Amino acid sequence: MTTTEPKPGAKPTVATVTIDGREVTAKPGELLIKVAQEHGVYIPRFCWHERMKPVGMCRMCLVEVEGVRGFPPACTTTVTDGMVCHTQTDTVKKIQDGVLEFLLVNHPLDCPVCDRGGECPLQDQTLAFGPGESRFTEEKRHFEKPIPISDVVLLDRERCIQCARCTRFADEIAGDPLITFVDRGDRTEVLNFPDHPFASYFSGNTVQICPVGALTAKPYRFRARPWDLATVETSCTTCAVQCRGALQSSTDRLVRFLGVDSEPVNHGWLCDKGRYGFEYVHSETRVIEPQVREDGALVEKPWPEALDAAASILERTKSMHGPGAIAVLGGARGSNEDAYAWARLAKGVIGTDNVDAQLADGLPAEVVLGLPRAQIADLDHAAAIVLVGPDLKEELPVLHLRVRRAAVELKVPVIDFAFDGGSIPGSIAMRCAPGESGALAERLMSAVNSGAAVADDPIGRAAAAIRERDGAVIVVLGRASLAERPDHTLRAAAAFAALPQVGFLSALRRGNVHGALELGLAPGVLPGRVSLADGRAAFASAWGAVPETTGLDATGILRAAAAGKIHALVLVGCDPLADFPDRALVREAFEIVGSVIAVDAFLSDSVRQADVVLPVTLWGEKQGTVTNLEGRVQRLGRKVSPAGSAMDDWRIAGELALRLGSDFDLEQVDEVTDEIAKVAPAFAGATAELLRRARDGVVLPVAEHRSEIVLRAGGLTILADDGSGASWEPIRAVRDADETGAAAATDRSAEQDGEAHANATDVIAAAGPSSTPNLIVWDRSFGSPELPARDAYALRLVTGRTLYDGGRTVASSPAIAALARDVALLVSATDLARIGVDEGAIVKVTSQRTSLNLVVQVELRLPAGIARLYFTPDHEGAAELIDLSAPVTDIRVETLR
Ligand code: SF4
Ligand code: SF4
Ligand code: FES
Repeated sequence: MTTTEPKPGAKPTVATVTIDGREVTAKPGELLIKVAQEHGVYIPRFCWHERMKPVGMCRMCLVEVEGVRGFPPACTTTVTDGMVCHTQTDTVKKIQDGVLEFLLVNHPLDCPVCDRGGECPLQDQTLAFGPGESRFTEEKRHFEKPIPISDVVLLDRERCIQCARCTRFADEIAGDPLITFVDRGDRTEVLNFPDHPFASYFSGNTVQICPVGALTAKPYRFRARPWDLATVETSCTTCAVQCRGALQSSTDRLVRFLGVDSEPVNHGWLCDKGRYGFEYVHSETRVIEPQVREDGALVEKPWPEALDAAASILERTKSMHGPGAIAVLGGARGSNEDAYAWARLAKGVIGTDNVDAQLADGLPAEVVLGLPRAQIADLDHAAAIVLVGPDLKEELPVLHLRVRRAAVELKVPVIDFAFDGGSIPGSIAMRCAPGESGALAERLMSAVNSGAAVADDPIGRAAAAIRERDGAVIVVLGRASLAERPDHTLRAAAAFAALPQVGFLSALRRGNVHGALELGLAPGVLPGRVSLADGRAAFASAWGAVPETTGLDATGILRAAAAGKIHALVLVGCDPLADFPDRALVREAFEIVGSVIAVDAFLSDSVRQADVVLPVTLWGEKQGTVTNLEGRVQRLGRKVSPAGSAMDDWRIAGELALRLGSDFDLEQVDEVTDEIAKVAPAFAGATAELLRRARDGVVLPVAEHRSEIVLRAGGLTILADDGSGASWEPIRAVRDADETGAAAATDRSAEQDGEAHANATDVIAAAGPSSTPNLIVWDRSFGSPELPARDAYALRLVTGRTLYDGGRTVASSPAIAALARDVALLVSATDLARIGVDEGAIVKVTSQRTSLNLVVQVELRLPAGIARLYFTPDHEGAAELIDLSAPVTDIRVETLR
């Protein structure tokens, strides 16, 4: 017999709670403040933040609960079945008056000159819940103000209400406990430690969540008032996490970027590079008019002339040398629409498959697209997380926060293959040297599969961790070092892919590299996650033609150019001289190649080699969509006018196609989105209309994830209160969030979400069948280069990006330009002693390629035998030393004579 009656003594799974006379249901154990908010009752608060543990410090949220003595804080009180709570009685009101009166005892009330003025929780709650006047007339406390606590954060101590949001964020979320409370009583203040600035990659989040103007951002201070700002919701494209944010402008200039709380992507957090790195859009050094080389120099020309010049290079090269003599490098910086149009131009019109959006810094497209994929949110409930790739904190910072949260808060075991032990607290460190990750992964999988008792060593502990919990193993897979061949990573991927429940999250870092790969900007693939072979018939019909044979990747293209086999090179937003890991090869290629066309916004060293430069719009100036590392497609918002006559990349591709005899017939960016939804199998159904309405975008392949799509309910995009003060009211509309003015609203209520799910399914269903060609499945094959024997005097080189790498975004954004890391060779203390120099000395570093003089520093986390040199696009360094033909790069380090 079955029964729905709960067993005697079983805990209820639903609690009925009465809040201000209204009965609502909630999960037992949920916080009262949150339950009330979800049902439309706003309880004032300062210290509580939905993404952090409650502390009950400010007492602003005190309420009455029947049967409970005193007035419990709603932010630390969990709901129970039958609870009756009052949030608006005369007594509660009196308490709120009192709390606010005390908070204002020392608050300076310098609102007219405070950045927070007009969007300040303290202002707003004093108006909504506070007393009309104060009984405290004494002199307020004064501090020197402001004091810089880092390069980007200023502190006005007298404005602080000691809510501990900033200190808790730094400690709990970022893992950078660099600010804390000092002193006691009325002298208590927030401060950084002496000689230790608040140098956290995530410091801007504390500014956003500070409920007063105590923490302000140097780049924004005194720049604008909230009522001057126009806002649009968009995705950051500085890295492939693509955090959601609200982009704000004033007088046609971007002035601020705030995190928006997206549950599947970023929980409202941004890294400081994403938050402050938009200033490059307004850089004085941008190219904003087309240029054509005349008598050896680049000269500004009107668009028609420049486009004609570019088209004639392509036409001439194709007719003289065939389509394979043309290659396209780049495309990871633009939108999905840009990538699609360039793939169509290269593969459908020119007929070349020599196309690569990656610069030997990623993984083959068929691996990224063809592995079983996971979503970022899967990290929260994984059986275990395996990290085989770069230091996420440096390359994909907000993904690092999510992995850190899973490890620290949700107790998910993390198995980290980092060379230096990794940056996730409590992780199982699978230390290995460059070139060894594949073999180590295979040994781990043998231990997992053997079923035998495991040893108490890292492999044994990792095997036990994988076996012990239910759920999928999530492997975060990327390039741990650009100085080792990707085959080692592929070998590890192939080992983990054999697990019965496994999902992979790509750790490729470039902004829209996943959009570029999904849309065909790689050899051997076509838009929509299909191979050239499988998609040939469908795309020949959609485009008229596709290349005959699989083309070359970036390394192959540059080698072919250096050998005189590529006669025209198109650079789509890429600077191989800065970014390619083998700079000598790039120089050789540029010396030999016949013509170069650059589609870019800056005259980089590579773009200076061009015969034609076509200026493009940048983030904030363009609409469209992007795809993040989990395959989530979301919309980009435009907030400012394009600089000069800069054009969108997709439009340039269309103009060139027209001159080459093929009319794309695409006038608006939404038409490109719709064409992608029509022809690219993984995108089937992802129309512009659906993407405008899908609250958190859509995950590819859309047909597989259609039930996850939640539609905005209509009217306005609404940002839920993230406690930032930038959107203080419980829910605040951002009126110009959708540039077209079309229906678009985020509604966070469960009932409406349910309704929206149904609508989403209808929209997708109406879009027709999901695909014809098969989606790519990686066959788990990889090359297995022999590792050279370790020379006792050599160090094995590790190189990857650092967040402030001196690249274009950092160098052209004054707020963060000074944070670029100096070039230094990092070695273990043991190796430094063996080399026989002091830290800071200049040493001679020699690889198979060349010798360089570099400063040497100690990195305590590094084991002996490994040296780390961060990749610096703007300086001599790793790109000079790396030999791409070798499986790993060994270096010798000697004192200067
Ligand atoms: Fe709270 Fe701001 Fe003070 Fe930090 S600085 S404790 S966030 S009021
Ligand atoms: Fe932008 Fe990446 Fe930073 Fe997110 S983690 S804010 S996407 S740079
Ligand atoms: Fe509850 Fe501060 S005590 S919000």
